[in-house]
Amino acid sequence: MDSEVLSLTGRESPAAAADRAANAAPSHGATAGIVASDDGNPLRAAEDPALAHDWWRTAVIYQVYVRSFADGSGDGTGDLAGVRERLPYLAQLGVDALWFNPWYPSPLADAGYDVADYRDIHPMFGDLRQAEELIAEARELGIRTIIDVVPNHISHEHPWFQEALASEPGSPARERFWFRDGLGEGGDQMPTDWVSSFQGPTWTRTTNADGTPGQWYLHLFTPEQPDLNWNHPDVRHEHEDVLRFWFDRGVAGVRIDSAALPVKDPSFPPLPHDPAPGEHPHLDRDEIHDIYRAWRGVADEYDEPRILVGEVWLADAARFARYLRPDEMHTAFNFEFMTQPWEAQVLRASIERTLTEHRPVGAPATWVLSNHDITRPVTRYGREDTGFAFDRKRFGTSTDLELGTRRARAAALLTAALPGSLYIYQGDELGLPEVELDRSFIEDPMHFRSGGVDPGRDGCRVPLPWSEHGASLGFSAQPSAQPWLPQPAQWSHLSVARQEADPHSMLQLYREALSLRREREDMRTGALTWLDAGPDAIAFRRGATFASITNLGERNVALPGNASVLLASGPLDGTELPPDCTVWLDVEPDPHTSA
Ligand code: GLC
Repeated sequence: MDSEVLSLTGRESPAAAADRAANAAPSHGATAGIVASDDGNPLRAAEDPALAHDWWRTAVIYQVYVRSFADGSGDGTGDLAGVRERLPYLAQLGVDALWFNPWYPSPLADAGYDVADYRDIHPMFGDLRQAEELIAEARELGIRTIIDVVPNHISHEHPWFQEALASEPGSPARERFWFRDGLGEGGDQMPTDWVSSFQGPTWTRTTNADGTPGQWYLHLFTPEQPDLNWNHPDVRHEHEDVLRFWFDRGVAGVRIDSAALPVKDPSFPPLPHDPAPGEHPHLDRDEIHDIYRAWRGVADEYDEPRILVGEVWLADAARFARYLRPDEMHTAFNFEFMTQPWEAQVLRASIERTLTEHRPVGAPATWVLSNHDITRPVTRYGREDTGFAFDRKRFGTSTDLELGTRRARAAALLTAALPGSLYIYQGDELGLPEVELDRSFIEDPMHFRSGGVDPGRDGCRVPLPWSEHGASLGFSAQPSAQPWLPQPAQWSHLSVARQEADPHSMLQLYREALSLRREREDMRTGALTWLDAGPDAIAFRRGATFASITNLGERNVALPGNASVLLASGPLDGTELPPDCTVWLDVEPDPHTSA
């Protein structure tokens, strides 16, 4: 096979040089130190308090979708008891924090992103005491807790909305939401033409007490998720109070849902064709930053400051970075990288852009391959269209899972080697594919609001397989319990038990990768220097002696002679790196760059 010659002499771009300078700042270098327990597992953190403040800059954060993680009560639905039982698994994996999807009481019109009570736990998951115990037990193992908050909307069952519905138009209770009269004769047309993120209309008409048609209310998502009016002081105070409620219980940070949406233009104009930055009526309005500055103030009240992580879907990189200014959020999800196709030039450009856009605000990048909304990586990378867009999801898309798995393994090492924090969505460490569920099981409103064209997001929310046998493959503590979504029979092979016994499994790859990342200071804080490994590879150094090379081409890439292999995502071909593989190397320091 032909191969590209890899030169390990760095070509340091101006951006990388600046990155090196930024990373050299002492405040960027901090992480929790981990002391191995007797059996060698990194089960207990010994933290230098001086470093604890900056843990989030390089953290590995594991996303727990509670309903599908582990079922401790035995009813087929995941719960907090299940998570508590599996904390040793998470500690052994080597994660620094857990992000929990919404765990609050909710009618589940959108999987809990319709919160009915922010100060309690959904009874199907457990109760508040269990949540407090879980937070404390995880922390004992050196694992912090991040919870989801959803400022844009609440559940239609929330007392505020019920009160608003029962009140007259123009009443104070309605002011916390966006109630408007309809347009046209009889007010039977919606107040605006805005389109929902879930497709379809953004307004629902209410019915008056006497049965006549009433006002309309705004919901950027489903009608069960009325949008809050962030110009109202009650809305601001309530959320700041909710933050304190959870921070007081030891929560280390919040993931802020739909973070660019909460502020609306109260004049409700039609959607402009191509709005200038800040001019869109409900996306990324300039006033939104006041909210997060206030939240940052709350987070900074704590001795160990709490962190804010934004779900900010914005195409404009400069506008994205504004959320990460020093007095706003700590980090935000880097969806730009996640949605890119499996192509070397495109991914490399995305990495470079990401580092460049974060640099001026001093915030670390985040690396994300998926979450509870996104097609699983092994499926995505095994398709012709390896990028991601919500409106491109279809039933019956042909998928090469073997290819996808190879690439997902390579992507896992690539992202774990990049500077910043790393997110792992539960089950990605097992290489679970997206499940094409029978329509009768689908609950996701995205499916229904697309008229059944979009399979929706439940295919990445299927309960985890823990053991090889049993009705729920060990997901449920009760062996005969049926999981709330069916697991494919082949998942027996992907179970934790099976993968623990296989040194080449995806799980072992993740464990080894996270362990190396923890051990090697250069992997966490070393400057990134690009290396030249040809147009089809992404190759870089971190610090002086660590290098990562990903081959996205069709030909082997030759490895340098002066390097030893630390870890590879697949078998090497002699001294060459095969297509769709990543290798981590210990290399000689480069005399041309000072790292
Ligand atoms: C975010 C969540 C998604 C939810 C939506 C509405 O995008 O990740 O799951 O449906 O917000 O809250």
